[in-house]
Amino acid sequence: AFPKQVRLVEMSPRDGLQNEPGAVIATAIKTGLIDRLADCGLSHIEAASFVSPKWVPQMGDAAEVMAGINRRPGVRYSALTPNLKGLEGAIAARADEVAVFGAASESFTKKNINCTIAESLERFAPVVEQARSHGIPVRGYVSTVMGCPYEGDIAPGQVATVARALYDMGCHEISLGDTIGVGTPLKAKRMLEAVAAHVPMEKLAAHFHDTYGQALANLYAVLEEGVAVIDSSVAGLGGCPYAKGASGNVATEDVLYLLEGLGIRTGVDLHRLVATGNWICQQLNRHNGSKVGQALVGN
Ligand code: HMG
Ligand code: MG
Repeated sequence: AFPKQVRLVEMSPRDGLQNEPGAVIATAIKTGLIDRLADCGLSHIEAASFVSPKWVPQMGDAAEVMAGINRRPGVRYSALTPNLKGLEGAIAARADEVAVFGAASESFTKKNINCTIAESLERFAPVVEQARSHGIPVRGYVSTVMGCPYEGDIAPGQVATVARALYDMGCHEISLGDTIGVGTPLKAKRMLEAVAAHVPMEKLAAHFHDTYGQALANLYAVLEEGVAVIDSSVAGLGGCPYAKGASGNVATEDVLYLLEGLGIRTGVDLHRLVATGNWICQQLNRHNGSKVGQALVGN
């Protein structure tokens, strides 16, 4: 059955901007985006990433971004933390939530965070433990859940193994990433069923990129199974620097339009969101990747 309510986790300031080519985007544009997103009613915004600036130059101003936002009460501002150094930065910046990120594929893990899956889990354990000792909840990502740019098909059982390891470690929520957007609804359902046999459904989030235009269909499939947390990015911004050809997350406007049609509550204002999507696209001189954003522009 469909959930009555869905929490949208807004990815655009992090997943949306981390791969933007060209000059590093001004901190003021990033904070302007985050503040506008909070004004739309989004309660959970991934605001920054405390990773190596050599690996991801666009996220090099994470501390300044976190310091520059106008914190809206009730909004959770989260940040990626691949290791203890990242966690230190996120704690100093008063992140409300942090996230460790692994993958179901060995090759992708190597390219993305320069270690094996087993090493990544060893590295995450103290990050999760220390974050929780500071009272900071930790999200866990599993990438390449429906396919890997280097290895192709990924077995659902492998996704379940990594998801369960992160959950057992103390991650409060596991976000399942179709990093390169290759999934289709039946595949999404089977992957989810494999994971849900090990991690409770209410602890799972869907993080689907839209490279092949299947993200909304895949979301419909997992919503029907009971997933009630969806990661998305306004204007469909984004991609992943270690997944060639990957396009952005599914557009938040498009997801919201779908959810409204299904009578599912989110607390997010569609018209403000459309305005925000158009604003950031103007700032970046970028095409708006949201169909709904294009259809409703100026309305
Ligand atoms: P490494 O080179 O193996 O690590 O990188 P290292 O510990 O040897 O450190 C190398 C250098 O980085 C050192 O500096 C460290 O101090 C520095 P140097 O001595 O050379 O001057 N360093 C850091 N600096 C700032 N903050 C840190 C940090 N850690 C080390 N936290 C590492 C390992 C994990 C650091 C690196 O591989 C990395 O930063 N990777 C980030 C990759 C990334 O951000 N990918 C995108 C996010 S994941 C994603 O998009 C997928 C997702 O959306 C879900 C989906 O769609 O599937 C979540
Ligand atoms: Mg992603």
